[in-house]
Amino acid sequence: MKTLVIGTGGREHALALALSRDPQVSEVHAAPGNPGIAAVATLHEVDPMDGGAVAALAVSIGAELVVIGPEAPLVAGAADAVREAGIACFGPSAAAAQLEGSKAFAKLVMAAAEVPTGLAHVCETSEQVEAALDAFGAPYVVKDDALAAGKGVVVTSDRQEAVDHAAACGRVVIEEFLDGPEVSLFAITDGETVLPLQPAQDFKRAFDGDAGPNTGGMGAYTPLPWAPDNLVAEVTRRVLVPTVREMARRGTPFQGLLYAGLALTTRGVRVIEFNARFGDPETQSILALLRTPLSALLNGAATGTLAEVGLPQWERASSVTVVVAAEGYPESPRKGDRIEGVERAEALDGVDVIHAGTAIVDGALVTAGGRVLSVTAVGADLAEARRRAYAGVDLIEIHGAHHRSDIALAAEQETMAT
Ligand code: AMP
Ligand code: GLY
Repeated sequence: MKTLVIGTGGREHALALALSRDPQVSEVHAAPGNPGIAAVATLHEVDPMDGGAVAALAVSIGAELVVIGPEAPLVAGAADAVREAGIACFGPSAAAAQLEGSKAFAKLVMAAAEVPTGLAHVCETSEQVEAALDAFGAPYVVKDDALAAGKGVVVTSDRQEAVDHAAACGRVVIEEFLDGPEVSLFAITDGETVLPLQPAQDFKRAFDGDAGPNTGGMGAYTPLPWAPDNLVAEVTRRVLVPTVREMARRGTPFQGLLYAGLALTTRGVRVIEFNARFGDPETQSILALLRTPLSALLNGAATGTLAEVGLPQWERASSVTVVVAAEGYPESPRKGDRIEGVERAEALDGVDVIHAGTAIVDGALVTAGGRVLSVTAVGADLAEARRRAYAGVDLIEIHGAHHRSDIALAAEQETMAT
């Protein structure tokens, strides 16, 4: 099968890498890609936001399956354009991608499907904002209604900061604070059949001990040894299946990857957010353990034949991903710094280096984005996977770069509170 992956980030590198190792895939193409993806795929130029151009590229290279990686092109209708050109596409329609594109829409769908989530108010005026903040009390959770690349959410006990964030966003969703550990559970769906993947945990805050601002994600691991045994079954039954059914009932079936960001609160599981695409960096760890050919799952979803694929199979191992971020990330990441040591890290046992914000300038690999790259390692258990991932990170040299040193640490030490 000839595949085309659209996007430029770590998620797309992880997808392209898994497809390149899939015996059912004959060719991997990617656009626009990055220097890491170039090692496993043929790169093409395209503006991912231009659905017509994405579809034309897919036609011109004879792609049989197109995978749209990021949310913005999905919300803009890239998957619709590819399907209109008669090519199977993994990724929801613009209408279905509203599950991520509008937090207010996601809340409506969850209410209709009786999916457990935090209480929330949609606010458009400062009076509504102040009333909602006071109704819930601190800590305050204020979310930009629109796409904001993981940076639209402020969680704070400082009321003025909450008011200021709301004023800067326009339409916001103000939500009750959800305590408890977070879990990312992804499901592949063709709009009807729902196949959950292995749960993972992401680390959203910039610094060790969950200090600092929210980021796109600083690391991840899977599986979660501390998670309740029935977690996947319960979330599938209470969250994933009802949401997929409700989207179909509305005439906007969701086909692609449904990402449930969950909080395991003292009162049970609650959805924090839905995303309409693979999460980054959880995808790096999850795909590293997937034994079922990735193309079978993606193609099954894209062609409405997922029921024939069967439940995904997994390596009985652990995988840890550590993101290396540029100096100044997330506020103002520096670009253009030399990156050394990638090949030495990749030579380690069980280690892949996944590129995100990298570029080749004058023949040298340099930083080109906030999250520069991630090191993903597989090991027999979390301890071995962590050791290998950090051995890889230690070999990467970038001036001023930072990473978290506590990815999967509490899980390894069995001190995760549930
Ligand atoms: P989101 O973009 O909705 O995933 O939010 C980003 C991060 O903000 C989440 O991963 C949580 O760490 C935090 N967050 C979002 N909503 C809540 C909430 N209701 N209670 C506590 N933390 C939250
Ligand atoms: N890992 C968080 C996200 O992809 O949104």
